[in-house]
Amino acid sequence: MSKKIEGFSKLSKAEKINWITQMHFEDAPKAKEILSTYNHNDEKVQKRHDEFIENSIANFYLPLGVAPNFVINGKEYTIPMAIEESSVVAAACKSAKFWASRGGFKTQILGTQKIGQIHFLFDGKTELLQSFFKQKKQLLIDSTSSLTSNMRQRGGGILEIELKDKSDLIEDYYQLHLSFETVDSMGANFINSCLEQIAKTFQSLAADHDNFLKEQLSIEVIMSILSNYVPQCLVQAEVRCPLGKLEVSSEMSGIQFAQKFIRSLEIAQKEPYRAVTHNKGIMNGVDAVVIATGNDFRAVEAGVHAYAAREGVYSSLSHAFLEGDEFVFQLKLPLSLGTVGGLTQLHPLVKWSMELLGNPNAKNLMEIVAVAGLAQNFAAVRSLITSGIQKGHMKMHLLNILNQHQATVDQKEKALEFFKTHTVTFSAVSDFIKSNP
Ligand code: MEV
Repeated sequence: MSKKIEGFSKLSKAEKINWITQMHFEDAPKAKEILSTYNHNDEKVQKRHDEFIENSIANFYLPLGVAPNFVINGKEYTIPMAIEESSVVAAACKSAKFWASRGGFKTQILGTQKIGQIHFLFDGKTELLQSFFKQKKQLLIDSTSSLTSNMRQRGGGILEIELKDKSDLIEDYYQLHLSFETVDSMGANFINSCLEQIAKTFQSLAADHDNFLKEQLSIEVIMSILSNYVPQCLVQAEVRCPLGKLEVSSEMSGIQFAQKFIRSLEIAQKEPYRAVTHNKGIMNGVDAVVIATGNDFRAVEAGVHAYAAREGVYSSLSHAFLEGDEFVFQLKLPLSLGTVGGLTQLHPLVKWSMELLGNPNAKNLMEIVAVAGLAQNFAAVRSLITSGIQKGHMKMHLLNILNQHQATVDQKEKALEFFKTHTVTFSAVSDFIKSNP
Protein backbone atom coordinates (compact mmCIF):
# COMPACT_ATOMS: atom_id res chain seq x y z
CA MET A 1 0.00 0.00 0.00
CA SER A 2 1.32 3.46 -0.90
CA LYS A 3 2.42 5.61 1.99
CA LYS A 4 1.80 8.84 0.10
CA ILE A 5 -0.94 11.16 1.31
CA GLU A 6 -2.56 14.34 -0.02
CA GLY A 7 -3.65 17.08 2.39
CA PHE A 8 -1.96 15.62 5.48
CA SER A 9 -1.50 19.06 7.03
CA LYS A 10 -5.27 19.62 6.88
CA LEU A 11 -6.07 16.59 9.06
CA SER A 12 -6.70 17.11 12.77
CA LYS A 13 -3.91 16.12 15.14
CA ALA A 14 -5.78 12.93 16.12
CA GLU A 15 -6.32 12.04 12.46
CA LYS A 16 -2.64 12.61 11.70
CA ILE A 17 -1.64 10.35 14.56
CA ASN A 18 -4.08 7.66 13.43
CA TRP A 19 -2.81 7.76 9.88
CA ILE A 20 0.87 7.81 10.78
CA THR A 21 0.69 5.01 13.34
CA GLN A 22 -1.49 2.77 11.18
CA MET A 23 0.62 3.28 8.08
CA HIS A 24 4.08 2.98 9.59
CA PHE A 25 3.97 0.85 12.74
CA GLU A 26 3.40 -2.83 13.34
CA ASP A 27 1.78 -2.16 16.68
CA ALA A 28 -0.25 1.00 16.00
CA PRO A 29 -1.86 1.26 19.48
CA LYS A 30 1.58 1.05 21.11
CA ALA A 31 3.04 3.69 18.78
CA LYS A 32 0.04 5.90 19.58
CA GLU A 33 0.52 5.41 23.29
CA ILE A 34 4.16 6.52 23.10
CA LEU A 35 3.10 9.72 21.37
CA SER A 36 0.41 10.39 23.94
CA THR A 37 2.95 9.95 26.78
CA TYR A 38 4.89 12.80 25.21
CA ASN A 39 1.96 15.18 25.10
CA HIS A 40 1.45 17.72 27.83
CA ASN A 41 -1.51 17.19 30.20
CA ASP A 42 -2.37 20.84 30.12
CA GLU A 43 -4.11 21.42 26.80
CA LYS A 44 -3.11 25.08 26.67
CA VAL A 45 0.58 24.28 27.04
CA GLN A 46 0.33 21.53 24.44
CA LYS A 47 -1.44 23.80 22.00
CA ARG A 48 1.32 26.37 22.39
CA HIS A 49 3.89 23.74 21.39
CA ASP A 50 1.78 22.37 18.56
CA GLU A 51 1.51 25.86 17.11
CA PHE A 52 5.29 26.28 16.86
CA ILE A 53 5.44 24.05 13.79
CA GLU A 54 3.44 22.26 11.12
CA ASN A 55 2.23 18.66 11.63
CA SER A 56 3.16 18.51 15.32
CA ILE A 57 2.24 15.10 16.79
CA ALA A 58 4.09 15.10 20.14
CA ASN A 59 6.85 16.83 22.10
CA PHE A 60 10.45 15.72 21.71
CA TYR A 61 12.06 16.06 25.13
CA LEU A 62 15.63 16.99 25.99
CA PRO A 63 16.72 17.22 29.61
CA LEU A 64 17.12 20.74 30.94
CA GLY A 65 20.07 20.84 33.33
CA VAL A 66 21.60 23.71 35.26
CA ALA A 67 25.24 24.54 35.91
CA PRO A 68 25.71 26.74 38.98
CA ASN A 69 28.79 28.63 40.23
CA PHE A 70 29.65 30.54 37.08
CA VAL A 71 31.24 33.90 37.78
CA ILE A 72 31.15 36.15 34.71
CA ASN A 73 32.56 39.66 34.94
CA GLY A 74 32.20 39.43 38.71
CA LYS A 75 28.52 38.40 38.62
CA GLU A 76 27.27 34.96 39.67
CA TYR A 77 25.18 32.87 37.30
CA THR A 78 23.50 29.49 37.15
CA ILE A 79 23.39 28.54 33.49
CA PRO A 80 20.53 26.52 31.95
CA MET A 81 21.58 23.81 29.50
CA ALA A 82 19.30 21.70 27.30
CA ILE A 83 21.31 18.72 26.10
CA GLU A 84 21.20 14.94 25.87
CA GLU A 85 24.94 14.18 26.22
CA SER A 86 25.58 12.73 29.68
CA SER A 87 28.79 14.48 30.69
CA VAL A 88 28.27 18.02 29.40
CA VAL A 89 26.50 19.62 32.35
CA ALA A 90 28.84 17.94 34.85
CA ALA A 91 31.83 19.24 32.88
CA ALA A 92 30.39 22.77 32.84
CA CYS A 93 29.88 22.62 36.61
CA LYS A 94 33.44 21.46 37.15
CA SER A 95 34.92 24.27 35.05
CA ALA A 96 32.64 26.88 36.63
CA LYS A 97 33.84 25.92 40.10
CA PHE A 98 37.48 25.74 39.05
CA TRP A 99 37.47 29.23 37.55
CA ALA A 100 35.21 30.80 40.18
CA SER A 101 38.10 30.53 42.64
CA ARG A 102 40.54 31.97 40.08
CA GLY A 103 38.87 35.26 39.19
CA GLY A 104 36.01 33.86 37.11
CA PHE A 105 35.33 34.40 33.41
CA LYS A 106 35.79 37.76 31.71
CA THR A 107 34.05 38.71 28.50
CA GLN A 108 34.06 41.44 25.92
CA ILE A 109 31.61 42.24 23.13
CA LEU A 110 33.66 42.93 20.01
CA GLY A 111 30.77 43.81 17.70
CA THR A 112 27.02 43.40 17.16
CA GLN A 113 26.58 43.87 13.42
CA LYS A 114 24.45 41.49 11.38
CA ILE A 115 24.50 41.08 7.62
CA GLY A 116 21.89 40.70 4.89
CA GLN A 117 22.33 40.50 1.13
CA ILE A 118 20.34 41.05 -2.04
CA HIS A 119 21.85 38.92 -4.78
CA PHE A 120 21.10 40.16 -8.28
CA LEU A 121 22.16 40.11 -11.91
CA PHE A 122 22.86 43.17 -14.05
CA ASP A 123 24.12 42.88 -17.61
CA GLY A 124 25.23 46.49 -18.16
CA LYS A 125 28.43 48.34 -17.36
CA THR A 126 29.45 48.34 -13.72
CA GLU A 127 29.92 52.13 -13.75
CA LEU A 128 26.27 52.63 -14.80
CA LEU A 129 25.12 50.48 -11.92
CA GLN A 130 27.41 52.26 -9.49
CA SER A 131 26.08 55.69 -10.41
CA PHE A 132 22.46 54.44 -10.26
CA PHE A 133 23.10 52.96 -6.80
CA LYS A 134 24.72 56.18 -5.56
CA GLN A 135 21.71 58.22 -6.72
CA LYS A 136 19.11 55.87 -5.23
CA LYS A 137 20.81 54.68 -2.05
CA GLN A 138 18.87 57.00 0.26
CA LEU A 139 15.57 56.13 -1.46
CA LEU A 140 16.29 52.46 -0.84
CA ILE A 141 16.79 53.11 2.86
CA ASP A 142 13.75 55.39 3.03
CA SER A 143 11.54 52.70 1.49
CA THR A 144 11.99 50.66 4.70
CA SER A 145 11.14 53.50 7.09
CA SER A 146 7.86 52.00 8.34
CA LEU A 147 9.55 48.61 8.81
CA THR A 148 12.47 50.06 10.71
CA SER A 149 10.75 52.68 12.85
CA ASN A 150 10.40 50.50 16.00
CA MET A 151 13.90 49.17 15.63
CA ARG A 152 15.29 52.69 15.18
CA GLN A 153 13.54 53.76 18.38
CA ARG A 154 15.33 50.93 20.17
CA GLY A 155 18.69 52.07 18.79
CA GLY A 156 18.94 49.71 15.84
CA GLY A 157 18.19 49.70 12.12
CA ILE A 158 20.06 49.62 8.84
CA LEU A 159 23.66 50.70 9.32
CA GLU A 160 24.96 50.67 5.77
CA ILE A 161 24.25 49.50 2.23
CA GLU A 162 27.07 48.75 -0.15
CA LEU A 163 27.05 47.70 -3.76
CA LYS A 164 29.43 44.82 -4.35
CA ASP A 165 30.68 43.74 -7.72
CA LYS A 166 30.91 39.95 -7.74
CA SER A 167 31.05 39.57 -11.52
CA ASP A 168 34.50 38.00 -11.23
CA LEU A 169 32.78 35.04 -9.51
CA ILE A 170 29.67 34.72 -11.69
CA GLU A 171 28.89 36.66 -14.86
CA ASP A 172 26.73 39.77 -14.15
CA TYR A 173 26.51 38.97 -10.43
CA TYR A 174 26.28 41.86 -7.94
CA GLN A 175 25.09 42.28 -4.38
CA LEU A 176 23.57 44.87 -2.17
CA HIS A 177 25.37 44.06 1.06
CA LEU A 178 23.65 45.50 4.12
CA SER A 179 24.71 45.69 7.73
CA PHE A 180 22.17 45.92 10.54
CA GLU A 181 21.97 46.53 14.25
CA THR A 182 19.09 44.53 15.69
CA VAL A 183 19.69 45.28 19.42
CA ASP A 184 18.05 42.55 21.53
CA SER A 185 16.39 40.59 18.77
CA MET A 186 18.17 38.03 16.66
CA GLY A 187 16.68 40.02 13.83
CA ALA A 188 16.10 37.40 11.13
CA ASN A 189 12.54 38.55 10.36
CA PHE A 190 13.46 42.20 10.59
CA ILE A 191 16.45 41.81 8.28
CA ASN A 192 14.61 39.67 5.73
CA SER A 193 11.64 42.06 5.63
CA CYS A 194 13.96 45.03 5.04
CA LEU A 195 15.86 43.16 2.34
CA GLU A 196 12.71 42.14 0.48
CA GLN A 197 11.41 45.72 0.57
CA ILE A 198 14.71 47.15 -0.66
CA ALA A 199 14.92 44.54 -3.41
CA LYS A 200 11.44 45.53 -4.59
CA THR A 201 12.25 49.25 -4.55
CA PHE A 202 15.59 48.63 -6.23
CA GLN A 203 14.00 46.70 -9.07
CA SER A 204 11.20 49.18 -9.62
CA LEU A 205 13.56 52.20 -9.55
CA ALA A 206 15.75 50.38 -12.08
CA ALA A 207 12.74 49.75 -14.33
CA ASP A 208 12.13 53.54 -14.54
CA HIS A 209 15.76 54.58 -14.80
CA ASP A 210 16.46 56.43 -18.08
CA ASN A 211 20.03 55.22 -18.50
CA PHE A 212 18.89 51.65 -18.12
CA LEU A 213 15.85 52.11 -20.37
CA LYS A 214 18.03 53.53 -23.13
CA GLU A 215 20.15 50.41 -23.21
CA GLN A 216 17.35 48.00 -22.26
CA LEU A 217 19.15 47.05 -19.07
CA SER A 218 17.41 45.63 -16.05
CA ILE A 219 18.10 44.27 -12.62
CA GLU A 220 17.09 40.72 -11.88
CA VAL A 221 16.93 39.97 -8.17
CA ILE A 222 17.81 36.34 -7.53
CA MET A 223 17.20 36.33 -3.77
CA SER A 224 17.22 38.47 -0.64
CA ILE A 225 18.27 36.88 2.62
CA LEU A 226 20.19 37.50 5.82
CA SER A 227 23.56 35.86 6.25
CA ASN A 228 24.15 33.57 9.21
CA TYR A 229 27.82 34.39 8.88
CA VAL A 230 28.27 37.16 11.44
CA PRO A 231 32.02 37.71 11.96
CA GLN A 232 31.26 41.23 13.19
CA CYS A 233 28.75 40.06 15.78
CA LEU A 234 31.51 38.79 17.97
CA VAL A 235 32.15 38.04 21.62
CA GLN A 236 35.29 37.03 23.46
CA ALA A 237 35.40 35.00 26.67
CA GLU A 238 38.56 34.55 28.67
CA VAL A 239 39.98 32.98 31.80
CA ARG A 240 43.42 33.61 33.18
CA CYS A 241 45.38 32.75 36.30
CA PRO A 242 48.95 32.57 37.57
CA LEU A 243 50.66 29.27 36.73
CA GLY A 244 51.06 28.59 40.44
CA LYS A 245 47.27 28.36 40.72
CA LEU A 246 46.83 26.07 37.76
CA GLU A 247 47.62 22.79 39.42
CA VAL A 248 44.72 20.50 38.49
CA SER A 249 46.15 17.29 39.93
CA SER A 250 49.01 16.23 42.16
CA GLU A 251 50.62 14.48 39.18
CA MET A 252 51.14 17.62 37.12
CA SER A 253 52.49 21.04 38.07
CA GLY A 254 50.76 24.20 36.87
CA ILE A 255 53.47 24.85 34.29
CA GLN A 256 53.36 21.27 33.00
CA PHE A 257 49.59 21.47 32.70
CA ALA A 258 49.77 24.83 30.91
CA GLN A 259 52.41 23.59 28.46
CA LYS A 260 50.46 20.46 27.59
CA PHE A 261 47.22 22.45 27.33
CA ILE A 262 48.81 25.02 25.00
CA ARG A 263 50.31 22.22 22.89
CA SER A 264 46.91 20.58 22.53
CA LEU A 265 45.46 23.89 21.33
CA GLU A 266 48.26 24.34 18.82
CA ILE A 267 47.35 20.93 17.43
CA ALA A 268 43.70 22.01 17.16
CA GLN A 269 44.80 25.17 15.37
CA LYS A 270 46.86 23.38 12.74
CA GLU A 271 45.09 20.05 12.28
CA PRO A 272 41.50 20.14 10.98
CA TYR A 273 40.62 16.60 12.12
CA ARG A 274 41.38 17.65 15.69
CA ALA A 275 39.98 21.16 15.23
CA VAL A 276 36.54 19.82 14.36
CA THR A 277 36.36 17.70 17.52
CA HIS A 278 37.88 20.46 19.63
CA ASN A 279 35.23 22.88 18.37
CA LYS A 280 32.51 20.26 18.81
CA GLY A 281 33.43 20.29 22.51
CA ILE A 282 32.95 24.07 22.55
CA MET A 283 29.58 23.70 20.81
CA ASN A 284 28.46 21.21 23.48
CA GLY A 285 28.32 24.17 25.83
CA VAL A 286 27.19 26.75 23.29
CA ASP A 287 24.29 24.78 21.81
CA ALA A 288 22.98 23.68 25.20
CA VAL A 289 22.52 27.30 26.30
CA VAL A 290 21.36 28.47 22.88
CA ILE A 291 18.62 25.80 22.93
CA ALA A 292 17.62 26.47 26.55
CA THR A 293 17.23 30.16 25.72
CA GLY A 294 15.13 29.48 22.62
CA ASN A 295 17.68 30.65 20.08
CA ASP A 296 18.43 29.26 16.63
CA PHE A 297 21.23 26.74 17.15
CA ARG A 298 21.45 25.90 13.44
CA ALA A 299 22.22 29.54 12.65
CA VAL A 300 24.81 29.64 15.42
CA GLU A 301 26.41 26.37 14.30
CA ALA A 302 26.64 27.46 10.65
CA GLY A 303 28.11 30.85 11.54
CA VAL A 304 30.58 29.53 14.07
CA HIS A 305 32.03 26.87 11.76
CA ALA A 306 32.35 29.35 8.89
CA TYR A 307 34.25 31.60 11.29
CA ALA A 308 36.50 28.70 12.28
CA ALA A 309 37.42 28.33 8.60
CA ARG A 310 37.78 32.07 7.89
CA GLU A 311 41.48 31.81 7.08
CA GLY A 312 40.98 29.03 4.56
CA VAL A 313 41.72 26.13 6.90
CA TYR A 314 39.30 24.88 9.54
CA SER A 315 40.91 25.74 12.87
CA SER A 316 40.37 25.92 16.61
CA LEU A 317 38.05 28.65 17.87
CA SER A 318 39.94 28.93 21.15
CA HIS A 319 43.53 29.89 21.92
CA ALA A 320 45.77 29.41 24.94
CA PHE A 321 49.05 31.11 25.70
CA LEU A 322 51.28 32.34 28.50
CA GLU A 323 51.47 36.01 29.36
CA GLY A 324 54.30 36.49 31.85
CA ASP A 325 53.59 33.91 34.50
CA GLU A 326 49.88 33.80 33.66
CA PHE A 327 48.02 31.13 31.75
CA VAL A 328 45.46 32.70 29.40
CA PHE A 329 42.67 30.81 27.64
CA GLN A 330 40.39 32.65 25.19
CA LEU A 331 37.51 31.95 22.89
CA LYS A 332 36.10 34.23 20.20
CA LEU A 333 32.69 33.36 18.80
CA PRO A 334 30.37 34.99 16.28
CA LEU A 335 26.93 34.73 17.91
CA SER A 336 23.69 36.13 16.62
CA LEU A 337 21.27 35.77 19.52
CA GLY A 338 18.03 37.32 20.68
CA THR A 339 16.42 37.86 24.04
CA VAL A 340 13.19 39.29 22.65
CA GLY A 341 10.94 37.90 19.94
CA GLY A 342 10.99 34.36 18.59
CA LEU A 343 10.46 31.66 21.19
CA THR A 344 11.63 33.84 24.05
CA GLN A 345 8.16 34.96 25.11
CA LEU A 346 6.35 31.82 23.96
CA HIS A 347 8.13 28.74 25.30
CA PRO A 348 7.56 28.48 29.06
CA LEU A 349 10.97 26.88 29.69
CA VAL A 350 12.74 29.48 27.59
CA LYS A 351 11.09 32.21 29.67
CA TRP A 352 12.14 30.32 32.77
CA SER A 353 15.73 30.01 31.56
CA MET A 354 15.87 33.71 30.77
CA GLU A 355 14.68 34.54 34.27
CA LEU A 356 17.27 32.16 35.73
CA LEU A 357 19.91 34.19 33.88
CA GLY A 358 18.48 37.46 35.24
CA ASN A 359 16.69 38.35 31.98
CA PRO A 360 19.83 39.22 30.03
CA ASN A 361 19.89 41.47 26.99
CA ALA A 362 21.32 40.05 23.77
CA LYS A 363 24.86 41.20 24.57
CA ASN A 364 24.75 39.58 28.03
CA LEU A 365 23.45 36.39 26.48
CA MET A 366 26.30 36.39 23.94
CA GLU A 367 28.70 36.63 26.88
CA ILE A 368 27.03 33.81 28.82
CA VAL A 369 26.94 31.51 25.79
CA ALA A 370 30.61 32.16 24.99
CA VAL A 371 31.51 31.41 28.59
CA ALA A 372 29.59 28.12 28.43
CA GLY A 373 31.63 27.25 25.33
CA LEU A 374 34.94 28.15 26.94
CA ALA A 375 34.10 26.28 30.14
CA GLN A 376 33.17 23.19 28.17
CA ASN A 377 36.34 23.40 26.10
CA PHE A 378 38.47 23.77 29.23
CA ALA A 379 36.85 20.72 30.83
CA ALA A 380 37.30 18.58 27.71
CA VAL A 381 40.93 19.51 27.08
CA ARG A 382 41.72 19.20 30.77
CA SER A 383 40.42 15.61 30.76
CA LEU A 384 42.08 14.78 27.45
CA ILE A 385 45.54 15.80 28.63
CA THR A 386 45.23 14.27 32.11
CA SER A 387 42.96 11.29 32.84
CA GLY A 388 41.65 10.84 29.28
CA ILE A 389 38.07 11.56 28.31
CA GLN A 390 36.49 8.15 28.90
CA LYS A 391 36.86 8.01 32.67
CA GLY A 392 34.57 10.96 33.38
CA HIS A 393 32.43 10.45 30.32
CA MET A 394 31.63 6.81 31.02
CA LYS A 395 30.92 7.59 34.66
CA MET A 396 28.27 10.03 33.55
CA HIS A 397 27.06 7.56 30.92
CA LEU A 398 26.64 4.78 33.50
CA LEU A 399 22.96 5.47 34.09
CA ASN A 400 22.27 5.30 30.35
CA ILE A 401 23.96 1.90 30.15
CA LEU A 402 22.05 0.69 33.20
CA ASN A 403 18.81 1.87 31.64
CA GLN A 404 19.69 0.04 28.41
CA HIS A 405 19.97 -3.10 30.57
CA GLN A 406 16.62 -2.27 32.20
CA ALA A 407 18.32 -2.33 35.59
CA THR A 408 16.09 -2.20 38.66
CA VAL A 409 16.34 0.60 41.24
CA ASP A 410 18.27 -1.75 43.50
CA GLN A 411 20.71 -2.76 40.73
CA LYS A 412 21.25 0.90 39.87
CA GLU A 413 22.08 1.80 43.46
CA LYS A 414 24.54 -1.07 43.76
CA ALA A 415 26.11 -0.33 40.38
CA LEU A 416 26.59 3.36 41.17
CA GLU A 417 28.43 2.34 44.33
CA PHE A 418 30.49 -0.37 42.63
CA PHE A 419 31.58 1.80 39.69
CA LYS A 420 32.85 4.53 41.99
CA THR A 421 36.00 2.44 42.15
CA HIS A 422 35.79 0.43 38.91
CA THR A 423 36.14 1.42 35.25
CA VAL A 424 32.82 1.79 33.44
CA THR A 425 32.55 -0.08 30.15
CA PHE A 426 29.47 -1.53 28.47
CA SER A 427 30.63 -5.10 29.11
CA ALA A 428 31.63 -4.39 32.72
CA VAL A 429 28.10 -3.11 33.36
CA SER A 430 26.58 -6.16 31.60
CA ASP A 431 28.68 -8.48 33.80
CA PHE A 432 27.69 -6.53 36.89
CA ILE A 433 23.97 -6.86 36.08
CA LYS A 434 24.35 -10.60 35.43
CA SER A 435 26.13 -11.18 38.71
CA ASN A 436 23.66 -8.99 40.66
CA PRO A 437 20.28 -10.24 39.44
C1 MEV B 1 32.62 15.12 23.23
O1 MEV B 1 31.27 15.43 23.10
C2 MEV B 1 33.48 16.34 23.08
C3 MEV B 1 34.99 16.10 23.09
O2 MEV B 1 35.34 15.17 22.08
C4 MEV B 1 35.65 17.45 22.83
C5 MEV B 1 37.15 17.38 22.62
O3 MEV B 1 37.67 16.35 22.16
O4 MEV B 1 37.79 18.41 22.90
C6 MEV B 1 35.42 15.54 24.40
